[in-house]
Amino acid sequence: MTQWTSSVGAPQLARLLGSPHARDTVTPLGGRRTPAYRSLADRVRLLVLEGHVPVAARLPAERELATALSVSRTTVAAAYEALRAEGFLESRRGAGSWTAVPAGNPLPTRGLDPLPPEAAGSVIDLGCAALTAPEPWLTRAVQGALEELPPYAHTHGDYPAGLPALRQALADRYTARGIPTMPEQIMVTTGAMGAVAAICRLMAGRGERVAVESPSYANVLQLMREAGVRLVPVAMAGGLAGWDLAAWRQVLRDAAPRMAYVIADFQNPTGALAPEEQRRELVEACRAAGTLLVADETMSELALDPDLELPRPVCAFDPAGNAVITVGSASKSFWGGLRIGWVRAAPEVIRSLVAARAYADLCTPVLDQLAVTWLLNTGGWGESIDIKRVQTRENRDALVAAVRRHLPDWEFTVPRGGLTLWVRTGGLSGSRIAEAGERLGVRVPSGPRFGVDGAFEGYVRLPFTVNGAVAEEAATRLAEAARLVASGATAAVEMPRTYVA
Ligand SMILES: Cc1ncc(COP(=O)(O)O)c(C=O)c1O
Repeated sequence: MTQWTSSVGAPQLARLLGSPHARDTVTPLGGRRTPAYRSLADRVRLLVLEGHVPVAARLPAERELATALSVSRTTVAAAYEALRAEGFLESRRGAGSWTAVPAGNPLPTRGLDPLPPEAAGSVIDLGCAALTAPEPWLTRAVQGALEELPPYAHTHGDYPAGLPALRQALADRYTARGIPTMPEQIMVTTGAMGAVAAICRLMAGRGERVAVESPSYANVLQLMREAGVRLVPVAMAGGLAGWDLAAWRQVLRDAAPRMAYVIADFQNPTGALAPEEQRRELVEACRAAGTLLVADETMSELALDPDLELPRPVCAFDPAGNAVITVGSASKSFWGGLRIGWVRAAPEVIRSLVAARAYADLCTPVLDQLAVTWLLNTGGWGESIDIKRVQTRENRDALVAAVRRHLPDWEFTVPRGGLTLWVRTGGLSGSRIAEAGERLGVRVPSGPRFGVDGAFEGYVRLPFTVNGAVAEEAATRLAEAARLVASGATAAVEMPRTYVA
């Protein structure tokens, strides 16, 4: 039986091997003496680990790759042999060689790859920008939900638009924020990811253009790639100044994208907060271009600095919800384990999204919806956000101080909210640092995961999820990883020490 499911041609692999994410530095340091075969094996392994070459992809024959790279066949043969020995390649006579990952390891993804919670203890997980539940509010909300459950138990439980009580509570929340909203304008989804997936399915078909901030949230970028849309990146303004409106106008004019996806509030990964005037202008520009604007508000409640004045939501400039579709989530404001998200849009848009849901994920769990309804209706939502803000602010300040101490040449602008620090890694490859970090016991996502076409190789994203001694240890391990990458060392390093959480 053939073991591979796709293949990578020699010219394509040669191109990927020459790209920045396969190198140690963004600007080459030079002067190292790694044997050619070893360097080739390392670069192929990195392409697999970062998801640029899929697992089970057939690699070119040794002779073809040697020609494409202008190296000897012996070098390619030795590199393939090294990859086989490390579990990154499998071969069978007659069937060729295909990529693999060592048995027992999770398969790489181009989205985000947080550590499974049960694996915590020796590896510090900076892979995921999500906090623990703000207890005792989770327990209280679930108890409240159980009390509300009996009448629903007599139904089939399938509410494709969401429970009426939750739609009402979410609509009331928008109304209280100054944007009058009816429950018919709300659809409850399975997290913000479920919302974006539903919108993409309905609005942006295969081959259609979608403009995205550059950088943007890795999982949404990957969802859109998989949906076959053509991503059009629009650079963020420097220094956390929000959007570059001139760049947006040009893309809207030249590429005429079907849809644009933005994170106006504490953008993931940069932490930028788009000022109100930019919001107004982007809505107008998208409306004029006939581009549907999707505004993801997942991070919007995580303002960390108490004196920060918040701009109005993007949908304030299109309250009817025809030009702007808003995506929201309980994941950052409350807890990601609940998997509650929503869409706010015009009732006709909501009706179409609901109709398309029957053959997607049917509906969202009733108990989780009741828990969020309880939180919104009792004031628990606001109190738990206050807890989150204090905790996240402390985490941010601890992480920033630790990174400054241990990695003085890493550069960043500290955001005033959100969960992420977008860091330029002193000219070193973020993909290499991520790989070295993995071996040193710190998981961190590399910059290119947040970019289109391999952009942001010289970056990593650090989340505000650790504090105290753990933040210090995370920065120490990252500094060790940076030293390893800068020295060009690829040898196995010791297994990570345990740390105290
Ligand atoms: C901007 C953004 N959108 C969506 C998500 C995913 O949200 P959910 O857990 O609600 O699917 C995240 C999670 O980090 C995010 O940062």
